[in-house]
Amino acid sequence: MPERPILQIESLSTSYGAVRALDSVSMSVPRGGICAVLGANGAGKTTLLRSISGLKRVDSGRVLVNGQDLTRTPAERHVRHGLVHVPEGGGVIVELTVEENLHLGALWRSGRRERAVLLQQMFDLFPPLLKRRSQPAGTLSGGERQMLAIGRALMARPQVLLLDEPSLGLAPLITRQIMQTLHDLRAATGLTVVLVEQNARSALSITDHGFVLSQGAVAVHGTSDRLLSDDRMRHAYLGF
Ligand SMILES: Nc1ncnc2c1ncn2[C@@H]1O[C@H](COP(=O)(O)OP(=O)(O)OP(=O)(O)O)[C@@H](O)[C@H]1O
Ligand SMILES: [Mg+2]
Repeated sequence: MPERPILQIESLSTSYGAVRALDSVSMSVPRGGICAVLGANGAGKTTLLRSISGLKRVDSGRVLVNGQDLTRTPAERHVRHGLVHVPEGGGVIVELTVEENLHLGALWRSGRRERAVLLQQMFDLFPPLLKRRSQPAGTLSGGERQMLAIGRALMARPQVLLLDEPSLGLAPLITRQIMQTLHDLRAATGLTVVLVEQNARSALSITDHGFVLSQGAVAVHGTSDRLLSDDRMRHAYLGF
């Protein structure tokens, strides 16, 4: 029997007032998979991640992590089920130092020794953070801040990482480095990643599967290779 997908989204619908933002979205992501969620501005990508992580109440449908229904579970409990969400802009706390922000990611679970090991792993993964460990997060560059946001999420040792536009505003080189880090992490730890991206080409280059949202619904999905080679689909939805 094939292994159950670690993340299953079943017919998820949600609205803002009278406006439907997600219309019966279904997707499933296998353990260790990296999938891209693509689509134009306003397509519903952020709403999808917020609905998965419990930050947005859904009208109907279900979110299952490891087969467990988390649809009505409060957002702050998701981390205990292995799911962590890095929001648009990263959501780091600008007044706290790099190190304090990293510690926050692991607060809920680990003892001091485990936290120290995790902290060292994050500095190995993102060396620029080590040099700046005592600096307030508000003084970091955009790329460093994004590294910190991802590092903080990884401190919780998630099984599923939801990332909302980690490359927004970053130079292509930094974007490539972040994408490569995600790719390596998956290989090393079996992490599952759902990656929302505007930059479809770079996202599809590191993901296995892509879902293209259009007006709140899944317009196309398929393997990343197939999406990259489908000229008509690329022109229609991805603009390259
Ligand atoms: N808090 C809100 N109240 C009302 N409407 C909202 C709210 N948040 C999002 N929307 C609407 O829901 C739709 C989907 O928005 P969402 O932020 O999910 O899009 P997105 O795909 O993430 O876009 P972008 O690429 O610009 O980040 C948009 O039409 C948006 O205007
Ligand atoms: Mg968005």
